[in-house]
Amino acid sequence: MISAPDALHTASGEETLELERQYVLQNYSRYPLVLHRGKGCYVYDTSGNRYLDFIAGIGVNALGHAHPRIVKVIREQAALLIHSSNLYYHEFQGPLARKLTEVSGLARTFFTNSGTEAMEGALKMIRSHGNHASRHGAAKHEIISLENSFHGRTLGALSVTGQAKYRHDFEPLLQGVKFVPGNDVAALEAAFSESIAGMVLELIQGEGGIYPMSPEYVQKARELADRYNALLVFDEIQCGVGRPGTYFAFQRNKPDVLPDILVAAKPLACGLPLGAIVANEKAAAAIGPGMHGSTFGGGALPCRVALEFFDILEGLLPSIQQVGGYLHLMLNELARKHTFIKEVRGFGLMIGVEMEIPGKDMVLDALADGLLINCTHDTVLRFLPPYIITERDVDTALKVLGKIFAKQKGPAA
Ligand SMILES: Cc1ncc(COP(=O)(O)O)c(C=O)c1O
Repeated sequence: MISAPDALHTASGEETLELERQYVLQNYSRYPLVLHRGKGCYVYDTSGNRYLDFIAGIGVNALGHAHPRIVKVIREQAALLIHSSNLYYHEFQGPLARKLTEVSGLARTFFTNSGTEAMEGALKMIRSHGNHASRHGAAKHEIISLENSFHGRTLGALSVTGQAKYRHDFEPLLQGVKFVPGNDVAALEAAFSESIAGMVLELIQGEGGIYPMSPEYVQKARELADRYNALLVFDEIQCGVGRPGTYFAFQRNKPDVLPDILVAAKPLACGLPLGAIVANEKAAAAIGPGMHGSTFGGGALPCRVALEFFDILEGLLPSIQQVGGYLHLMLNELARKHTFIKEVRGFGLMIGVEMEIPGKDMVLDALADGLLINCTHDTVLRFLPPYIITERDVDTALKVLGKIFAKQKGPAA
């Protein structure tokens, strides 16, 4: 049996849980851990116990915790200007949009507060693009999305999320969404027609269990979107912004296949809420004055932090590839020893270990041993560590995992 970390047995730990039970909406089933602070790749609970963080706020804390340069700009900017609304300009949205253009090859950015809001905006672009095209021909309102995908929790993003378990309580959702299996070129060709206004594609399905889309499939999606005048959206909210070892997952394929719209969020502002819709001129033309907006989106504080983050990220990309490669290799070593491990998938620092047995108790075992990981789709252990981890951190994590795997009842080779 797993014992809860000491923090839960302190007065403040018990009280935290009790207050949440009484006053917080009961939608999360949290792990038994009350966190207090973080430094580098480690977080500490309220009793001072230390945990190696290999999930990084579900892919958010790209520079770990309390990175000195991020702390410095937050301090400086908080004392200058946190929020000013989008009624006025501030000094950081323009430079950050330019940076996103430089690193993506796209043209214009709209800033949001979260991933799902970025997806909502992208869906509005698709709808508006389809409506404009419908004025000169047949109705163009349908959207293609992938089975097993995840795009967020708001109603539009849910409508294109290809997992019934997230959708069924909230139906009816947006009409006209066609789900197709990933990496199936024939099914994709069959789904496209003149009535398709856009396609949404997660290049590495994250929540769905770390499933990458093949370069051939992505190339075919681009060709079909062009042929049928549909907007192609890449959801890089989890798999983008440095995590695959390139700025974006679409840049792993050579030559790059560009989307019309890219949505990004999680690591952009190192823990402050910031998302982005980055579009080419064709997609950007679908949104005119007054058609979209946000009170908080693109505030001075998160935009300045994101600029600082991009400054640091450039130098980190080679190490993301190298340490990610090492993590992948070492997990494959473990897979050779334990036959219940079916596959190790992913790129850079986005890796999943698919098993024949459930992973939930392993996550609790890891927590008790000072390692934070996550399990998705019941049987896939998911690793989204901060970009600053070293091979030594990987060795520490693998020691814990090796111990946990050795305890499992699955057949050992
Ligand atoms: C691929 C993908 N799209 C969209 C979202 C939604 O982002 P958020 O939780 O910031 O709304 C997520 C979140 O996990 C995601 O992984």
